[in-house]
Amino acid sequence: MPDTNDRVRAVAWVDDMLHLLDQRYLPAREDTLVISDCRAAAEAIRDMVVRGAPAIGITAAYAAVLAARARFSADGDGWRAGFEQDLADLGQARPTAVNLGWAVRCMREKAAGLSGDPVPALLELARGIHEEDIQANRRMGELGAQFIAPGSGVLTHCNTGSLATGGYGTALGVIRSAWAAGKLDAVFADETRPWLQGARLTAWELVRDGIPVTLLVDGAAAHLMKQGRVQWVIVGSDRIAANGDVANKIGTYSAAVAARHHGVKFMVVAPSSTVDMAIASGADIPIEMRAPEEVLGCGGQPVAAAGAQAWNPAFDVTPAALVDVIVTERGVVEQPDLAKMTAMMK
Ligand code: MRU
Repeated sequence: MPDTNDRVRAVAWVDDMLHLLDQRYLPAREDTLVISDCRAAAEAIRDMVVRGAPAIGITAAYAAVLAARARFSADGDGWRAGFEQDLADLGQARPTAVNLGWAVRCMREKAAGLSGDPVPALLELARGIHEEDIQANRRMGELGAQFIAPGSGVLTHCNTGSLATGGYGTALGVIRSAWAAGKLDAVFADETRPWLQGARLTAWELVRDGIPVTLLVDGAAAHLMKQGRVQWVIVGSDRIAANGDVANKIGTYSAAVAARHHGVKFMVVAPSSTVDMAIASGADIPIEMRAPEEVLGCGGQPVAAAGAQAWNPAFDVTPAALVDVIVTERGVVEQPDLAKMTAMMK
C-alpha cells in the first residue's frame, strides 16, 4: 500500500480494466478514465491522459493485456496476428520515451512462448513490470538521496513522481527520500511550459505529501541558481543513450547548462528500462514534436498574437558532459560515459 510519501497511483488494473487518472485535468479535477481496449490506451498515451516515461511503459504493458484479451476472444488460436498489429500501433503512440518500446517488447516476447489463453500470463507480467518499477523507484530514492548534503535546496523540472511512474517517482522519489531524511531546506519546481507538469502535477503531489514546494517559471531557474539557493538540479529522463546523453522534458538542457555555469550539481534519475544501449548518443534519440497550439495557448485559451507560429519540441537532449550523476536501480554512474554505462547495464 502507498505510504504517506506515496499516495497516488496514475495507472491501476481494476476489475479487469485499465484505470488511468486523467492528468490533463489535474489538479482541478481528479477524473479516472476506464479503458477496455488497446486502441483507447494508445490514444490516452498520445493525448497525455497518462504521461511520464515509466507510466507510459506500464500503461502499454496493461494495454497489451487488453489487446490479447480482445484478439483471443474474437479469433481464438488465431489471436497473434491482430495482437501484433495492436502492439505495433501502440508502440507508435509517443516516440521519445523508450519505456514504451521496452514494455511492448517485453509483452511481445512473453506472448511468443504462450499457448492457449494468453491473458493470465500477460497480466502477471504487466503487474510485475508495474511492481518492479515501484521497487526500482524506492531503491533509486535511497541511492540518489545519499548525494544530497543536509540543508540543501533542490530544483526539479517537469513531473517525475507517482503520476509519471508506477508509484513514488524517479527524481521526485529522490526528493521524497531526501526530504524524509531531513536533508532538504527547499524544493523548487519549474512550472514546465507548455503542459505545466511542474505547476499542475509536481506541486499537487508534493502538497499532498506535506512537502513544501515553491514554483518558478522555467526562465527563472538560472536566476535561482545564481542566488545560491539550490545545490542540485534533479530530473528524470525519457531515454538515456549508451554514452550517457539524456533526453528529457524540454527545458532540461537549459537547466543543465545553467547548473554547470553556477556550480550546481545535476542528477538524472531513471530506471534501467529508460536506458537505451542501442542508441549511441543523444543525436539519435527521436524528439517528439507536438502541436503548435500547445504553445500558442494556455489552459485551452489562446494567448499568442493571432497569426504567430510556434515551434514545440516536447523534449531536449542534455549531453553526458553536463550530467554529474545518473541514478538507476542497478546503481549509480558519476560523470557518465559509454564504458561506465556499459558496465552498469551488463
Ligand atoms: O511529456 P511528458 O509529461 O510525458 O514528459 C515527461 C518527462 O519528461 C519526465 O521527466 C520523464 O518522462 C521522466 S518521468 C519519471
